[in-house]
Amino acid sequence: MPELFEPGYIGRMRLKNRILMSPLHMCFTMEQENAFLIERAKGGAASVTAVLAVSDQGAPQGMNWMNEEVREKLRELAREVRPYDCRSIVQLFHCGRNCLPGRLAREGASPLAPSAVPSPLYKNMPRAMNREDIQEAIRQFADAAAACREAGIDCVEVSCSAGYLLNEFLAPHTNRRTDEYGGSMENRMGVPLEVLAAVREAVGQDYPVMVRLSGDSMVEGGYGLEDMKVFAARAEKYADAFNVTGGWHESRIPQISQDVEPGSFAYLARGIHEAVHVPTVACNRINSRESAEAVLAAGGCEFVGCGRAFVADPAFGSKIRAGLPYQECTACNVCLKQILFNKPAKCAVNPAVGREYLQRV
Ligand SMILES: Cc1cc2nc3c(=O)[nH]c(=O)nc-3n(C[C@H](O)[C@H](O)[C@H](O)COP(=O)(O)O)c2cc1C
Repeated sequence: MPELFEPGYIGRMRLKNRILMSPLHMCFTMEQENAFLIERAKGGAASVTAVLAVSDQGAPQGMNWMNEEVREKLRELAREVRPYDCRSIVQLFHCGRNCLPGRLAREGASPLAPSAVPSPLYKNMPRAMNREDIQEAIRQFADAAAACREAGIDCVEVSCSAGYLLNEFLAPHTNRRTDEYGGSMENRMGVPLEVLAAVREAVGQDYPVMVRLSGDSMVEGGYGLEDMKVFAARAEKYADAFNVTGGWHESRIPQISQDVEPGSFAYLARGIHEAVHVPTVACNRINSRESAEAVLAAGGCEFVGCGRAFVADPAFGSKIRAGLPYQECTACNVCLKQILFNKPAKCAVNPAVGREYLQRV
């Protein structure tokens, strides 16, 4: 079993320890986002992840998407985390049907989804994607991945979790298509696999690519871990690691609240691990040295993902390494509540969150 502070690899990407800072869309400007992430790179994370939509059509308001200005900021992020021996990752995201009505970054755009099935969370009726929409989305993922590589970012992660666009293709209740992309599991995997193939083609064989999965949708009519194992086994051809989180946002099962025992969703990463030959990352409520070490010791994952632990205390990584006291995340989810209404994240125990850029000269 890997030790928490021993180096590891995702593809050719060397990580100084086993703690990846999980992707967190914080509704920040790129300036805020970079400063927020650089602070966490300083604080001992082996990698930090910026979340970027692949297009304005796939971005809820408040989310950055790939464009010229953002490319420049990615160069800065890649450059500025390196002195801390930290790697930069960009999660490539498309919200699909999951955004507030009328609140996409592209004004007047309707949310896109495999089928016209409303989001129970946002009460938003999406437009079913036609073949052209699908081809455009595939191209957007690939172009964004190429832009990340060009900007010096160390790795891209394709978002296929929590009920966002690519994940919606995998689940029977959101994918009711009658064409080659709907019906059987084989068909439902089509679009996510084509996206991954296009991303791989765009960045080349040697560039690290991760996939973020909800190991089980945990919603009625959705998919389970066995389905995801089938998907991961197919996706492995294009991926250097699987970052495995819990269920969809709309799940009735608590995912990240105080009710969730630290590390209790690691079984999903373990399940995916059985199906693939590349590393897996276990996530959700891993918020202390003890919980991180316990998850690694249980096996079935090579890395842990810690999100809010780094929100609450930017030096979470270096403090747990040194045995110093740190500000714990209480899982109050003030951060998440803000984001769900497209407002910049705040943290109940760390008022500096989102203001890190004010400290930079
Ligand atoms: C405010 C907030 C924003 C998030 N944004 C994203 C995101 O953009 N992409 C993603 O894959 N997961 C996102 N997540 C999920 C986290 O990556 C992580 O899986 C979750 O917070 C559980 O891990 P933690 O207990 O270590 O925070 C978000 C979570 C929160 C609280």
